[in-house]
Amino acid sequence: MEHFAKRTHTCGELRIGDIGKRVTLNGWVDVRRDLGGVIFIDLRDRYGKTQVVFNPQRHEGAHQMAKDLRNEFVIAVSGVVEKRPEGTENPELPTGVVDVLAEDLQILSKADTPPFPINDSVDAGEDLRLKYRYLDLRRPVLQHNLLFRHRLYQLVHRYFDERGFVEIETPVLMKSTPEGARDYLVPSRVHRGKFYALPQSPQTYKQILMVSGFDRYMQIVKCFRDEDLRADRQPEFTQIDVEMAFVEESDVRELTEGLMQRMLKELKGIDIQLPLPRLTYREAMEQYGSDKPDIRFGMKLGCVNELVRDSGFKVFSERVKQGGTVAGFIVPGGASFTRNQMDNLVDYAKSLGAGGLVYIKWTANGPESPSEKFLGKELLERIIARLGGAQGDLALLVSDAWARAYTILGTLRLEMGRRLNLIDEQKFALLWVTEFPLLEYDEEEKRFVAVHHPFTSPHPDDIAMLESDASHARARAYDLVLNGTEIAGGSIRIYDQEMQKRMFGLMGIGEEEAFRKFGFLLTAFRYGAPPHGGIAFGFDRIVMLLTGMKSIRDVMAFPKTASAVSLMDEAPSEVDEKQLRDLHIRTV
Ligand code: AMO
Repeated sequence: MEHFAKRTHTCGELRIGDIGKRVTLNGWVDVRRDLGGVIFIDLRDRYGKTQVVFNPQRHEGAHQMAKDLRNEFVIAVSGVVEKRPEGTENPELPTGVVDVLAEDLQILSKADTPPFPINDSVDAGEDLRLKYRYLDLRRPVLQHNLLFRHRLYQLVHRYFDERGFVEIETPVLMKSTPEGARDYLVPSRVHRGKFYALPQSPQTYKQILMVSGFDRYMQIVKCFRDEDLRADRQPEFTQIDVEMAFVEESDVRELTEGLMQRMLKELKGIDIQLPLPRLTYREAMEQYGSDKPDIRFGMKLGCVNELVRDSGFKVFSERVKQGGTVAGFIVPGGASFTRNQMDNLVDYAKSLGAGGLVYIKWTANGPESPSEKFLGKELLERIIARLGGAQGDLALLVSDAWARAYTILGTLRLEMGRRLNLIDEQKFALLWVTEFPLLEYDEEEKRFVAVHHPFTSPHPDDIAMLESDASHARARAYDLVLNGTEIAGGSIRIYDQEMQKRMFGLMGIGEEEAFRKFGFLLTAFRYGAPPHGGIAFGFDRIVMLLTGMKSIRDVMAFPKTASAVSLMDEAPSEVDEKQLRDLHIRTV
């Protein structure tokens, strides 16, 4: 192999104290400026940029070669560190008071013209950036994000190691897990017609590790879910997976809060108050219309059932009598919205599935509403006052079944928060959401399914009503929410076989099916299962929020598109006929 001049310093390192030293730098040409005579380049690596000067009067040979340099060429350059002439310093660069006067230049690698410029103001479409991800990853913002991600791995490992957690790897080729998404399957060559599943999470393994006595387990682990993708969802993503024996909710909570406190302090310099606020699922829904509320701003929801139950407005009164909900919230200053803006808002609410959107404006003439003739002036006033409004405000009201009414209002609240700029992007607002429902009815399958997963314990107060009123039973499950995004979820598990059987019974999973699917776990539980519980954090989501990105794709090296394609290497792709034959697969 040919030798090249190896760097003595990185491109982010030289300072005023290095003036006069002879140095060698290796890196990529960031920009080249030919000022008719002297050539300047910025040389870039992941540590920074240094200006290099090629002066024909001083070093003719190096200058001659520098004429061939283009953006993204990889070079080795040697020369002497000089102080930049007065007035030409660049205060934006840590290396900005010096440059390197080039004496020797080696072009280590030429580069085609990149399909987009390598800088953070790039306006190239995301598809193009993903196709040339290696170039995209040279951009400072992505370099920063991946380095930040690296620091978070280290912090997490340290945090758990200090507390006696053991990192244990669990298989990637496994038996299907019950997290509720679709599995990615891998056909077995040896066992015709059989498949491995890629883990949606290591849930069953970590519970088994508790049976094995490992007591405190953690793993930074890839999980795979074949589901519809969004800005905060990828088909393969990373969890910080945690399980502990002999614990209750408060233990998981304390551990988690300590981790969040440490992350925010060490990586963002932000102090957070502990304990974190806690809302039950019901409170979260009724106050914010979401099970992952963004509490960086107010605009809380309120129920007006009692006020409208006996009103002459049938849309409201009938709904309440049927057990539904009439609720709403105040948009501060919203009374000044134009007719057009209001029509748009009504259409938006309808697009969310609302039958309609009732609104009340509190103007100088008192509360006004298109529904005034049904509700009457006095009731309008009582409603808007109950929701906390005053003159100048707008009240938005939806009437529907409980979950739907609140969900629609929650989406409207977020939208209004954004439009009115009420969300402080610098804030990090964490909270727990607890007491999730244990089961939900699946209309398609015509049976109850677990909201979290089938191994989650029911709330002790609700055990008696499991058979009589399953849909109202609460689970010992909890989510951690940061700025309106679910960043972790977990539960206290069932470790009692009788209770597990009851749960399967409620979900219409017979003994035979239960054993076929989770027999290994149920069998393991027969040999001494400790009480246990845990949590899993969405690692990518945490990095996304802490770096201020809008998508987890910006904090993963090689993400997939919304249609689960990797544009760079073109996965998924077709495979050879022979490979398919070996796997006993025929495509149609
Ligand atoms: P859960 O399914 O809630 O729990 O997942 C835990 C956390 O993982 C993140 N997450 C995702 N991130 C990116 N892309 C996805 N497709 C994706 N899906 C989930 C979320 C979520 O809060 N085994 C249980 C945990 C337990 O009970 O201990 C589990 O996986 O931030």
